Amino acid sequence: MEQMKMTLKIAKIHKTWVFRLLLVVVPFFGYYFTQDMFLQSQISSHDKVLCERKYTAKKLNALEANFTINTQLFLKLEDFFWRKFPYGLALPYGVNGSEPVLLKVLAFIAKYEMPEQIQRLTCRTCAVIGNGFTMKNSSLGDTINKYDLVIRLNDAPIRGFEQDVGNKTTIRLFYPESASTKSVDENNPDTLMVLVPFKRIDISWLKELLYDEKRVTKGFWKPVPQVWVGNVGQIRILHPHYLIETAVKLLKIPLKLPPKSKQKPVHPTTGILAVLMALNYCDVVHIAGFGYPKTADHKVPIHYYGSNTMKSMKDSFHDLTKEALALRKLEEVGAIQYLHPHS
Ligand SMILES: *[C@@H]1O[C@H](CO)[C@@H](O)[C@H](O)[C@H]1NC(C)=O
Ligand SMILES: *[C@@H]1O[C@H](CO)[C@@H](O)[C@H](O)[C@H]1NC(C)=O
Ligand SMILES: *[C@@H]1O[C@H](CO)[C@@H](O)[C@H](O)[C@H]1NC(C)=O
Ligand SMILES: *[C@@H]1O[C@H](CO)[C@@H](O)[C@H](O)[C@H]1NC(C)=O
Repeated sequence: MEQMKMTLKIAKIHKTWVFRLLLVVVPFFGYYFTQDMFLQSQISSHDKVLCERKYTAKKLNALEANFTINTQLFLKLEDFFWRKFPYGLALPYGVNGSEPVLLKVLAFIAKYEMPEQIQRLTCRTCAVIGNGFTMKNSSLGDTINKYDLVIRLNDAPIRGFEQDVGNKTTIRLFYPESASTKSVDENNPDTLMVLVPFKRIDISWLKELLYDEKRVTKGFWKPVPQVWVGNVGQIRILHPHYLIETAVKLLKIPLKLPPKSKQKPVHPTTGILAVLMALNYCDVVHIAGFGYPKTADHKVPIHYYGSNTMKSMKDSFHDLTKEALALRKLEEVGAIQYLHPHS
């Protein structure tokens, strides 16, 4: 019975989705050629000396980690109809157990793509901007604004820091606890807000906001926003592919702990995840604001904003040593470049 209800529900969502797809596809062809001419002039005006197709993918090969390149960054509704997720794992490395909630969210969002003007670029330059203290007084703002894609993390502010971090944001990765309530001020009208679901309630949280259902506040390690501020059409869900690849191939951390293990689970940070995502999608990946102060010193701020110190990272579910090592390797093989000197 439950099964049948589910099937019916899916069929209904599917129909809505097909209709929405038609709405998007039909007008698109009308704009096809004018868009193309506009983009060509933009490409030549950028400094793309470094831009060589598959440049980053080639460099990634040097790590001999057997990365699988995937340029579909976001989950799509149709993924659930004919595609299988590897491992059958639960979040954050798969969607096992979260399918019904995900379906509802994806049906509501109804958009799963990058903006057409970015998707069609033959060469994509990307800047991934970490929230590190090194951004302070860096004067990198103008440089950062010149990249095709500027990827930012969590609730990192822009206003008041434009000179150092720029004011362009193409993609912002976040999870419920790191979602900003001031997202309209701190982003551009066309910024894609990309949810990185780490746990089941992260998707339920979004569903409750979108459908205005009863909010469940239990299970988060920090109070989470209770309303969605901003354009719902800009929301995307990051494909679990990048979490799996980051964990298994880049950081080599276990996806699943043995049952009854006392070990804390370790997950990648949104920062390292953003770097791997960029390496999949972009032809040039430059980064800034990564790295933490020496852990021994608990007084140094870790972000270019606010006053958090390493103390705030003490109980985090991350392996910062492994991540620093991975970034160094990526830099050594030439897959990424820093926009500033760093240790
Ligand atoms: C590399 O990855 C592919 C696809 O995930 C897999 O089929 C293949 O066995 C892997 N090769 C090695 C050497 O691990
Ligand atoms: C999903 O998880 C359940 C419970 O852990 C498990 O029994 C099932 O085999 C998993 N599904 C897949 C496709 O692996
Ligand atoms: C940044 O610049 C301001 C103004 O010049 C200065 O007061 C401050 O100490 C600088 N901070 C850092 C971390 O360099
Ligand atoms: C960034 O700031 C510049 C200068 O103030 C402004 O012209 C531009 O429109 C801003 N860009 C965005 C995306 O907000």
